[in-house]
Amino acid sequence: MRDATDAELIDAAVAIRARAHAPYSGFAVGAAIRDEAGRIHVGCNVENASYPCGVCAEASAISAMVAGRGREIRTIAVAGPAGRLTTPCGACRQRIREFATAETTVVVVDPAGRAESYALDALLPVSFGPESL
Ligand code: THU
Repeated sequence: MRDATDAELIDAAVAIRARAHAPYSGFAVGAAIRDEAGRIHVGCNVENASYPCGVCAEASAISAMVAGRGREIRTIAVAGPAGRLTTPCGACRQRIREFATAETTVVVVDPAGRAESYALDALLPVSFGPESL
């Protein structure tokens, strides 16, 4: 586990969680990315009446990062509901991997700001990425 020290990023993930559209699961998630230029990009989960069309918070934040010219995820904070720490789903671990470096850190937080952090490599070991092609 790594240190979770980016308070501004954690606060951004917790704040954007309030914008989630999660009427089906009731499970609101916010995500915030610190990119290579120090910018923060945020996203929340957006569910759909056609359930598989829903988008995770991490995917939403990655789209915002790319649209905002970011290309590297230095740190991504993920804020889920109270009472647990929500780690990214498998698909989102791979989505993060696309823009990761050896230093990429995933910080999981609850709404009160309790945080734990992990190297992406610990969450997605022996991964397949852009340089694997
Ligand atoms: N979800 C996320 O947005 N990120 C995660 O890391 C875990 C799950 C969303 C997907 C769905 O809208 C809801 O949480 C319940 O799975």
